Amino acid sequence: MRHLMNPLDFTVEELDRLFDLAEDIAASPSKYAHACEGRKLATCFYEPSTRTRLSFESAMLNLGGQVLGFSDAGSSSAAKGESVADTIRVISCYADICAMRHPKEGAPMVAASRSRIPVINAGDGGHQHPTQTLTDLLTIRALKGRLDHFTIGLCGDLKFGRTVHSLIEALIRYPGIRFFFISPPELRVPDYITDSLKEKGIAYEEVIRLEDCMPELELLYMTRVQRERFFNEEDYVRLKDFYILNNEKMALAKDDMLVLHPLPRVNEIAVEVDDDPRAVYFKQVQYGVYVRMALILTLLEIKVE
Ligand code: NCD
Repeated sequence: MRHLMNPLDFTVEELDRLFDLAEDIAASPSKYAHACEGRKLATCFYEPSTRTRLSFESAMLNLGGQVLGFSDAGSSSAAKGESVADTIRVISCYADICAMRHPKEGAPMVAASRSRIPVINAGDGGHQHPTQTLTDLLTIRALKGRLDHFTIGLCGDLKFGRTVHSLIEALIRYPGIRFFFISPPELRVPDYITDSLKEKGIAYEEVIRLEDCMPELELLYMTRVQRERFFNEEDYVRLKDFYILNNEKMALAKDDMLVLHPLPRVNEIAVEVDDDPRAVYFKQVQYGVYVRMALILTLLEIKVE
């Protein structure tokens, strides 16, 4: 039985097959409309989310399956002190597959080790968010036709942003990737990541101003400052509006640069940018459903001819 804890749990070839499947689903959704009939997905969310949880639910419903679950720890037995390991043993009797989000790093991994059903990490603290990364990679592949040889800027909260950490790890498996890390000094990418880039000889530059690298970028990945992971409100208030992408800054970018964002957006992208054809963050949401459909089918080993 397979789980998904980290985007690297799939080889590059397996990811290609997953993305081929997601693109086939996008092209012929009706072919897959009954693929999960009689199957259930449990969404166990110990941390707030709208997008990811609803994206999983929408994916399972599109496949003809059913969904159950909880959307905050307060309404689950965790409030009574139940461990994640016990919860998943119980959920294993109710559902065929589980997507779990947890504020503690590693919690979905503990669950997977005790589970009788596949567990998908839907975000663990500031650590990883593999299904967002699958979404990001599918979006890039679908809109650009490849996943290699890109100059990509990641901008915003690179310290606490788990989507950023997962995406960097996933992208470095493709040749010719060059990074610009755009953040205030306080929110730099963690050393464990830059150390691993140095070790592997992967090109990266750290800059503070978006304007300093904008003309070079083929992809720009914007992120929100992760308020809930700050130790004090003062630091958050000081840093929250550090970057605001607007039409003036977009004018410095290439004509075919794509802007991605895992959402939710707070202030970091001005609403005026939404009408720019290079802004693809709402298309990204749709790709997120297709890739989760492909993931559910893959982990449940369901083949649709
Ligand atoms: C992200 C997350 O939860 O890490 N959201 C998401 O799942 N699309 C990004 C964020 O919360 O900023």
